[in-house]
Amino acid sequence: MKTIISKINAEDIDLNEIKKQAELLKSGKTVIFPTETVYGLGANALDECAVKKIYEAKGRPSDNPLIVHIYDEKEVYDLAKDVNEKAKLIMKEFWPGPITIILNKKSIVPDTTSGGLDTVAIRMPSHKIAREIIKQAGIPIAAPSANISGRPSPTKAKHVYEEMDGRVDGMILGGDSNFGVESTVLDLTEDVPMILRPGSVTKEALEEIIGNVQLDPSLRNKEDNKKAKAPGMKYTHYSPNAQVYIVSGNDINVMNRINELVKINKEKGLKTGVMCLDKNKDKYSGEIIKLGNTLEEVASNLFDALIEMDKRKIDIIYSEEFPTYGVGQAIMNRLLKSAGYKIIQA
Ligand code: TXA
Ligand code: MG
Repeated sequence: MKTIISKINAEDIDLNEIKKQAELLKSGKTVIFPTETVYGLGANALDECAVKKIYEAKGRPSDNPLIVHIYDEKEVYDLAKDVNEKAKLIMKEFWPGPITIILNKKSIVPDTTSGGLDTVAIRMPSHKIAREIIKQAGIPIAAPSANISGRPSPTKAKHVYEEMDGRVDGMILGGDSNFGVESTVLDLTEDVPMILRPGSVTKEALEEIIGNVQLDPSLRNKEDNKKAKAPGMKYTHYSPNAQVYIVSGNDINVMNRINELVKINKEKGLKTGVMCLDKNKDKYSGEIIKLGNTLEEVASNLFDALIEMDKRKIDIIYSEEFPTYGVGQAIMNRLLKSAGYKIIQA
């Protein structure tokens, strides 16, 4: 398939290019566009045939539901029923932005979009290009992350182009995403709201607005993970070609253990990568990729680092461990998944 590419600057949007891509969406085709979290692979959320093309382009299992992206809060009431007070507070506080809410769905949302569930995931992105294309298309847009199923989600124009050119009808290349991990997914259909996927809107920030929030307990370890309430959290995900290990322990032990492993791997002819905070970069041997200094920077660089490791043909990756408060929760969730829960105690 020939992909129609538009390069658009988010700070100086070329409306004609947006309209060209919006026409594709209106006619039931697939278009990739940037959002503030990761690039999304969009199609008309209310058109079953269009939505099927998303699953095909990604090679995604059809029981994994999609997030419906909207331009205006009013659209929530067309798509969902039982829109409760907590949902209204979340929308007011965090939209447009990187949080997705799960509500009971109305019948207008096809089963293909909701993966056969009675609920629907809705998000209003804040990225200027994402907002403009949804507005111009005039329809709600189903959009999962724009990666082949199982791979790390792309946050850079270059990465999404390399992975998806030829697999979709249209593609907007519009720079880098700023948050780097996907939106927080919050289930609001039960009395106590539950985070099904941690993201950059943190549990702490949510609790300030709506009180007690639970984290889906099945996200804790590999065994429980099979029971995850968000179907997408059950699958292997964020996997580069290399084997990923998280190395846990105090700084000195982690450093010694990683350097020892790098040496052993080298003797076996294996190429080893290390992902670490900027301040630790000189402590390690092997191919270093710096993740930044703050948790926010780590979140924004993580998927790029995994993709970069593949480009460098790395066989084994060791990553430092990160704290699980704030956005650290999302970082460790993605890192554990990409490592298949393999942790080395240093
Ligand atoms: O930041 C994001 O959310 C990005 C950008 C493109 O907006 N999108 C994204 O979509 O990450 P996707 O499809 O890669 O992840 C959606 C997650 C999956 O884990 C899916 O199982 C879950 O949300 N989900 C969607 N609808 C759901 C529902 N009705 N109930 C439970 N989980 C749901
Ligand atoms: Mg995804």
